[in-house]
Amino acid sequence: MDANPIHREDDIGAVGKILTERERKKGILIHALHAIQEENGYLPGDVLKTLSLKLNIPLADIYSVASFYKMFHFKPRGKKIVKVCFGTACYVRGAKQLLAILEERFHVKSGETTADRAMTLETVGCVGCCGLAPVSTIDDEVVGEIIGEKRIEQFVQAIKDGDTA
Ligand code: FES
Repeated sequence: MDANPIHREDDIGAVGKILTERERKKGILIHALHAIQEENGYLPGDVLKTLSLKLNIPLADIYSVASFYKMFHFKPRGKKIVKVCFGTACYVRGAKQLLAILEERFHVKSGETTADRAMTLETVGCVGCCGLAPVSTIDDEVVGEIIGEKRIEQFVQAIKDGDTA
């Protein structure tokens, strides 16, 4: 048993200092990634290379950190983000068919962005509005009961117009 707890604290303090430095760098990195994504809409590879040099963090580590968080994207995204809920209630009420229609109408697959970068189409887990299934979102706006030809057509138009009413 160490008779002098101060020595122990010094040891831990040294490790703590290293951890703090690493944590500090990680904090700066995440902040920088947010700023880059806000400016570009995604994380361009050449910008990440520059960031790696500036922060003296290996590029692989930057990709590792950025990949961990779903909010970061490595490919350009559309002006609008459309997400079709693939939670159970929505799936049962036709989410798969709705996605297929959107893929066909906008010439993209799920996870892709239209050629004109107007829209990115994605799927998402339950968004918490199961009573309105099938549900999708256009950016942060929830659109419910997208079922039946007429309603789906309205939804397609809403994506084009940006009107979620
Ligand atoms: S399953 Fe789609 S909102 Fe819950």
